[in-house]
Amino acid sequence: MDHVRVALVTGANQGVGFEVAKELVAHGVTVLVGSRNVERGEAAAQQIGPGAIPIQLDVTDAASISAAADGIRTEFGRLDLLVNNAAISNTSAGARSLQEYTATSRASNVSLDEVRAIWETNVFGVLAVYQAMLPLLRESSDARIVNVSSGVGSLTMNADPSYPSRAMFSPGYSASKTALNAVTLAMMLELEPTDIKVNLVSPGFTKTNLNGYEGTQSVEEGSREVVRVALLGPDGPTGTFTRWENATIPW
Ligand SMILES: NC(=O)c1ccc[n+]([C@@H]2O[C@H](COP(=O)([O-])OP(=O)(O)OC[C@H]3O[C@@H](n4cnc5c(N)ncnc54)[C@H](OP(=O)(O)O)[C@@H]3O)[C@@H](O)[C@H]2O)c1
Repeated sequence: MDHVRVALVTGANQGVGFEVAKELVAHGVTVLVGSRNVERGEAAAQQIGPGAIPIQLDVTDAASISAAADGIRTEFGRLDLLVNNAAISNTSAGARSLQEYTATSRASNVSLDEVRAIWETNVFGVLAVYQAMLPLLRESSDARIVNVSSGVGSLTMNADPSYPSRAMFSPGYSASKTALNAVTLAMMLELEPTDIKVNLVSPGFTKTNLNGYEGTQSVEEGSREVVRVALLGPDGPTGTFTRWENATIPW
């Protein structure tokens, strides 16, 4: 019998997702390296080595999602771990400093098209992948879903006048993570009667493309809570929202 766990990490061709995929492979997990771009996915999987398998997956494309699910069913017949990691912070091609980004992301001036595009990836993309992969997760005896969110989406923290980063709370990226948290709560409640676990994790402010490499943590640091939670066994918790190491983030 095949006891190797099979994982899908979305947006795993770079950043936190890449590092998570790499570390899961190092822990003996077979990882489907999700990438919307085929070549970038192949390059990432090759860089990780045996145990990493590239899979084309654009979380905003229904056909891509269903083709990925069909491929996983044909190849493995199940999925043990789903890491919903793919996200965008904005839609502008050129690099903007965090300061510029904040100035143009206020409720009064943020582009509605940009808000819709961000939510399409960060919220609806996660829900769509969940719906497509749930039948495969149900085929596992020990399935877990880890949704990669952010403390910037915490309503409790941002409603607190003493929270230093609250001036950056925006209808785009920040509120997309709030919505992701809400959608994740719906998943948690739906799956409570089952053995499928659902956890939310924040990497913390990490040096990646998402923030123009202005993050303060390395990708290794940013990935460790995602990896820790992803590797929790059947007796591990469901319904948590944490950052390193197992520190609870208020919803
Ligand atoms: N970095 C931080 O400070 C920080 C803090 C808190 C939370 N997070 C969260 O951590 C997760 C990973 O972000 P990161 O910092 O590693 O950013 P990143 O380096 O920009 O990586 C994001 C990944 O998502 C992929 N992606 C974007 N849109 C996609 C789509 N439609 N379909 C499939 N994949 C798509 C990107 O693919 P391409 O390479 O093709 O663009 C990339 O692989 C995100 O959920 C983010 O919100 C990050």
